[in-house]
Amino acid sequence: MDIIIAVMSSIILFSVVPSGNSLGLNYYEKTCPDLEFIVAKVVSEATSKDKTVPAALLRMHFHDCFIRGCDASVLLNSKGSNKAEKDGPPNISLHAFYVIDNVKSEVEKACPGVVSCADILALAARDAVFLSGGPSWDVPKGRKDGRTSAASETRQLPAPTFNISQLQQSFSQRGLSTEDLVALSGGHTLGFSHCSSFQNRIHNFSATNDVDPSLNPSFAGKLKSICPLKNQAKNAGTTIDPSSTTFDNTYFKAILQGMSIFSSDQALLDTPKTKELVSKFATSKEAFFKYFANSMIKMSSINGGQEVRKDCRVVN
Ligand code: HEM
Ligand SMILES: *[C@@H]1O[C@H](CO)[C@@H](O)[C@H](O)[C@H]1NC(C)=O
Ligand SMILES: *[C@@H]1O[C@H](CO)[C@@H](O)[C@H](O)[C@H]1NC(C)=O
Ligand SMILES: *[C@@H]1O[C@H](CO)[C@@H](O)[C@H](O)[C@H]1NC(C)=O
Repeated sequence: MDIIIAVMSSIILFSVVPSGNSLGLNYYEKTCPDLEFIVAKVVSEATSKDKTVPAALLRMHFHDCFIRGCDASVLLNSKGSNKAEKDGPPNISLHAFYVIDNVKSEVEKACPGVVSCADILALAARDAVFLSGGPSWDVPKGRKDGRTSAASETRQLPAPTFNISQLQQSFSQRGLSTEDLVALSGGHTLGFSHCSSFQNRIHNFSATNDVDPSLNPSFAGKLKSICPLKNQAKNAGTTIDPSSTTFDNTYFKAILQGMSIFSSDQALLDTPKTKELVSKFATSKEAFFKYFANSMIKMSSINGGQEVRKDCRVVN
C-alpha cells in the first residue's frame, strides 16, 4: 500500500514538475566551453555602467518563463501586425534588452549557431543575482528558442493586484509550489516600480478605506506623495525595497512592517504557510538564498521552444 502511494505520488510529481527538454549542466561543455565566462563578463560590465541592469535581467527571465516557458519569447521584437510580448501592457519595467544582444554577439563569435537566447537569459539572470550580492547556482542548459511572441499573452502574467489564491494558482499552473511563490517573490529585493503598479493601494482602495489599511501609515503617506492622483511626474515610482540594488532579505522584513509595495507582496501574509515562509526568510538570509536558488532552477526549467535563434530579437 505504502509502495503504491509512493509510486503514485512520484508519477504525480513527474507530471507537474516542469521538465526541460533534457536540460543538462554540461550541455555546452564541448560546443561552447567559454559560454558562462562570456555571459558573466558582459553582464558584469553592463552592471558596472548601469546599476539597474540586474533587476531588469531577473524580471526579463521571469516574464520569459511564465509565458510559453523559458523560450526567449520575451526577447522577440514586434513584426508587421504581430505585437510581441515586450510591447504588451505590463512591459513598462522591461529594459536592458541590449545586454542580451551584447552577450549573444560575443557568444556567436566564440561558438556560432549553438547557444540559445533562452539559455543566455537564464545564465544572465543567475549572474545578475550573484553580482548583486545574492546566491549563485548551476544553471541546467539546453533550452530552445520559441518562434512565437504575442502581446496578448502577457495577460497570463500574475498582476500586482492578485490575492494569495490567484498567485498560488498562477504558480501552480506552471508546476511551481507555494514555497516557490514566496521564495521567487523575493526577486523584488531588486528594482523599481512605477506608480501604476501600486496605485490601487494608495488611492480609493475600497469603499471604506482610501488607503490599504495593511500599509504602514507613514509609508503610505510617502507613497502618496510620490504618486499623487493629479500632476503625477512622468515615470514616477519607487524602489521595491529600500536596498534596491542589493540582493538581500530586506524585502521580507518590509512585508512584515507593512512596507511592501504591491498587494501581491502583502498577500503573502494571508495564509499561515506563506506567512511562515515570509518570517523565515525575514529572519534568515541564508534560508532565503537557498530556497531562491532552488526555485530559480525550477522556474528556469519550464519547457520552451524549438530552435537556436541567430538574433535574439527575430526568429530564424
Ligand atoms: C509573484 C508574482 C509577481 C508579481 C505580481 C510581480 C509584479 C511586478 C510588478 C508590478 C513590478 C513593477 C513593474 C513596474 O511598475 O515597473 C515588478 C518588478 C519586478 N519584478 Fe516582479 N512580480 C512577480 C514576481 C516576480 C518574480 C518571480 C521575479 C523574479 C524572480 C520578479 C522580479 C522583479 C524585478 C527584479 C522587478 C524590478 C524590475 C526593474 O526594476 O527593472 N517578480 N514585479
Ligand atoms: C511597451 O509597450 C509600448 C506599447 O504598448 C511600446 O511603445 C514600448 O516601446 C514598449 N516598451 C518596451 C521596453 O519594449
Ligand atoms: C481572490 O480573488 C478572486 C478573484 O477576484 C476571488 O474569486 C477569490 O475569492 C479571492 N480569494 C481570496 C482568498 O481573497
Ligand atoms: C473612487 O471609487 C469610486 C467608486 O468605485 C468612484 O466613483 C470614484 O470616482 C473614485 N474616485 C477616484 C478619485 O478615483
